[in-house]
Amino acid sequence: MTTISMCKRIDARIMMAMIMMTVPTMWFGCSPVRQTIDPQRALAGQKVYEQYNCLQCHGYDGNDKMNLKKALRKTGQDELKAWILDPGQFKPGTEMPAYGGVLADSEVNDVIQYLRQLAGKSR
Ligand code: HEC
Repeated sequence: MTTISMCKRIDARIMMAMIMMTVPTMWFGCSPVRQTIDPQRALAGQKVYEQYNCLQCHGYDGNDKMNLKKALRKTGQDELKAWILDPGQFKPGTEMPAYGGVLADSEVNDVIQYLRQLAGKSR
């Protein structure tokens, strides 16, 4: 008898612990800015950022000429990619050059990793 009630009490505690661990994980998992960043790719992305002049227009914190955090929040990975490849389709006449045909697909992904890292640092 006693063993059974012991087990029940432990089960309830484990359940609580599991709920308390899962809720924040889900919460952070849903926030775009807190997506996990691959440091290796972010580093490669930093090189792209510097080499292809993103730096000249967007600065070291990514906030010159754009609000980086706002941009990352409102746009998903696919839209960001589409923007970088051809910003003119979203904003005709924008100063930002199209990087389609300039950057490889992996370079675009890397630079987005770097932008996410920047956004995380500047919060
Ligand atoms: C000649 C200047 C210039 C260069 C070079 C440049 N950008 Fe931009 N970028 C802009 C401007 C200006 C905007 C803001 C949009 C606007 O007002 O036209 C912008 C906006 C953005 C946005 C926000 C899009 C949104 O949805 O709000 C991202 C992301 C971005 N740039 C990434 C990059 C990356 C990555 C590079 C390098 C591969 C780069 N930019 C190079 C000028 C530039």
